[in-house]
Amino acid sequence: MSHAIIAAEAGGPEVLHLEETTTGQPGHGQLLVKVAAAGVNFIDMYQRGGLYPVPFPFTPGAEAAGEVIAVGDGVDGYSVGDRVATGEGRACYARHALIDAAKALPVPDGISDQVAAAIPLQGMTAHYLINSTYKVQSGQTVLTHAGAGGVGLLLTQLLKAAGARVITTVSTEDKEVLARKAGANEVLGYEGLVSNVHELTDGTGVDVVFDGVGKSTFDDSLASLRTRGTMVLFGAASGPVPEFDLQRLNAAGSLYVTRPKLADYLLDIEERRWRSSELFDAILSGELSVDVGASYPLADAAQAHADLQARKTTGKVLLVP
Ligand SMILES: NC(=O)c1ccc[n+]([C@@H]2O[C@H](COP(=O)([O-])OP(=O)(O)OC[C@H]3O[C@@H](n4cnc5c(N)ncnc54)[C@H](OP(=O)(O)O)[C@@H]3O)[C@@H](O)[C@H]2O)c1
Repeated sequence: MSHAIIAAEAGGPEVLHLEETTTGQPGHGQLLVKVAAAGVNFIDMYQRGGLYPVPFPFTPGAEAAGEVIAVGDGVDGYSVGDRVATGEGRACYARHALIDAAKALPVPDGISDQVAAAIPLQGMTAHYLINSTYKVQSGQTVLTHAGAGGVGLLLTQLLKAAGARVITTVSTEDKEVLARKAGANEVLGYEGLVSNVHELTDGTGVDVVFDGVGKSTFDDSLASLRTRGTMVLFGAASGPVPEFDLQRLNAAGSLYVTRPKLADYLLDIEERRWRSSELFDAILSGELSVDVGASYPLADAAQAHADLQARKTTGKVLLVP
């Protein structure tokens, strides 16, 4: 017997309930993992709410860390007792999860389960955004939104380590404190953003914007770019951006726009290991720190979703079975 969060149908946070389930055995290429911590992410909310279609009944959860308790056929390199994490799992809001061994990341000694559960999805996202979607160079000026969020705090630290100047946005003074602690050079509110960014960049604009807020920030993000700057739209925390006339890129200074997703930047085991080992190494060396802003018991998944949606959380949000 096990327990998992199950949504019978798409809807608000209230559709999430803890239910008894049976623990399946790992199939070919799979690991059965006793979940120590599951990451709560926006994709879980997009799926729960119906923005990203999934079959119901549905158990959310792409991200988790825990201990391998059974190994399926055809798996090399993992044994019972190993600690692993994944950001590409399914149904991780549970006491036990089946994960593909190919998508598992070995967790090094010295990294706690909570920290390990914070890295696969948000950490690897921050990593691919600034290393692969747009290779940020030392001395460049970058605008990121939601600087006290899960991705935001990691992104700012990685950008600073790469030598960038970071301008970020937050909605409250408490969040400003966190964003500054992560190393942001300038922390702004969302009001008057374009004129403030231009003032901070001598009227030039920033080299690149990483925008995970979406609908409410997209226009200001574009208007904050320098000529030939790049807009990386990577999320929709405030809602999806409406249809977009490409001619606007011409008028605004021959801009570039891209809309990446994590799966396309984790194409094989080598790419996963490159990103995750750089992140785990940075944590072990003290260069990168993970801020777990809130941990909820598994049964309180609905509350975790409600709080994330209402902008009440900062840093990583976890469920602990
Ligand atoms: N494309 C990818 O590969 C990928 C992978 C992972 C995550 N993402 C995206 O990255 C974004 C951030 O994810 P996260 O998990 O780290 O979340 P988060 O940043 O911890 O939380 C979202 C933050 O967005 C800001 N926000 C602004 N307007 C909002 C609104 N109307 N509703 C809710 N939040 C709003 C809030 O910060 P303030 O209150 O400070 O404004 C809020 O705390 C999400 O859009 C997510 O989908 C994309």
